Amino acid sequence: MAKAALITGITGQDGYHLAEFLHGKGYEVYGIIRGQHNPKRARVEQEQPFVKLLEADITDTSSLIRAIETARPDEFYNLAAISHVGYSFKVPQLVADVTGKGVLNALEAIRLTGGEKTIRFYQASTSEMFGGLDYNRPGKGYDETALFHPRSPYGVAKLYGHWITKNYRESYGMHASCGILFNHEGERRGLEFVTRKISNAVARIHLGKQDHIELGNLDAKRDWGYAGDYVVGMWLMLQQDQPDDYVLATGETHTIGEFLDLAFKEVGINDWKPYVKQNPAFMRPAEVDILLGNPAKAEAKLGWRRKVDFPGMVKLMVQHDIGLESATSLD
Ligand code: NAP
Ligand code: GDD
Repeated sequence: MAKAALITGITGQDGYHLAEFLHGKGYEVYGIIRGQHNPKRARVEQEQPFVKLLEADITDTSSLIRAIETARPDEFYNLAAISHVGYSFKVPQLVADVTGKGVLNALEAIRLTGGEKTIRFYQASTSEMFGGLDYNRPGKGYDETALFHPRSPYGVAKLYGHWITKNYRESYGMHASCGILFNHEGERRGLEFVTRKISNAVARIHLGKQDHIELGNLDAKRDWGYAGDYVVGMWLMLQQDQPDDYVLATGETHTIGEFLDLAFKEVGINDWKPYVKQNPAFMRPAEVDILLGNPAKAEAKLGWRRKVDFPGMVKLMVQHDIGLESATSLD
């Protein structure tokens, strides 16, 4: 019989890639969609008609219980979050409820439906929990043993989600694993994140639809991988006999300036400086200056390998956005 998976955050970047991947593996895929009229519903229905959408909200445990009773999942992937770090400074209490306590709601819903021994649980933890301050591991990068020091309401909420997942594993014997994922991007990335904001602006500048882009801090460094590679790691974690926590990362770190270099070169522009303006509105009250991950454990134990490299990912994103922007009329 086909396995069933229930995904929260189905309308997000990772939800899209994970649904594709699990469908390809023969899973029955259920996705939780929130809101009385979610504008992303039509996109999922059109592009991924195999996904069975269930209306629920991560802040409403009763709705999660009903979703679990309908889907009867073998695997529960909790991707739902308010995931934008900058925005989390604007709505910190909401982020605590959704990104933090939402994880507890999901775990409790599993227990209350009697699924703690049968449903495998994935929690979307993040490199933002490390915060970059204790960056004292030159050449090694953050691994599963590194110290946490979150630098945003988002990072703090995620750290709660991380520890409550570990606590339910230890307390109730749940097969609950946390993927500590470093930044992963791609053609499905939201336009509010820096890589997609750049790839989309570069495409529009190339097509004469825009003349510049406004950004915040250009010096921050991130360990950027491709989202399609990372959802494979999520699945691998839930196929192991024992639950555990794993870092997924590339082991390379690049500045936003380096991303700009490659993106603009893709459309034949060698000097991006005339096209980029700095705007303090995009700066954060506290910044994570550098993130570099060490995926050695995931590589050794899961056999996980990322396939797309940094230049390949930038190229893929810019080319995708040129296609997208060419297909829409001048605005
Ligand atoms: P994303 O594109 O921002 O998607 C977030 C998803 O959460 C959306 O489907 C959103 O639904 C849903 N959501 C928000 N509030 C909700 C609520 N109250 N109830 C139910 N669903 C809700 O994020 P992503 O990039 O796919 O990331 C997936 C997960 O991995 C997130 O938890 C993120 O924090 C984490 N993560 C991401 C990265 C990365 O680099 N992408 C790295 C580490 C960890 P709507 O569409 O309705 O808003
Ligand atoms: N979003 C954004 N917009 N970021 C900008 C901008 C801008 O205009 N200008 C500079 N930046 C800088 C940010 O200050 C940050 O240092 C870096 O670009 C990356 O920002 P984001 O793309 O918003 O991602 P993030 O690293 O803060 O968070 C993402 O990765 C985390 C994993 O490390 C999100 O996907 C999180 O949900 C995820 O947990």
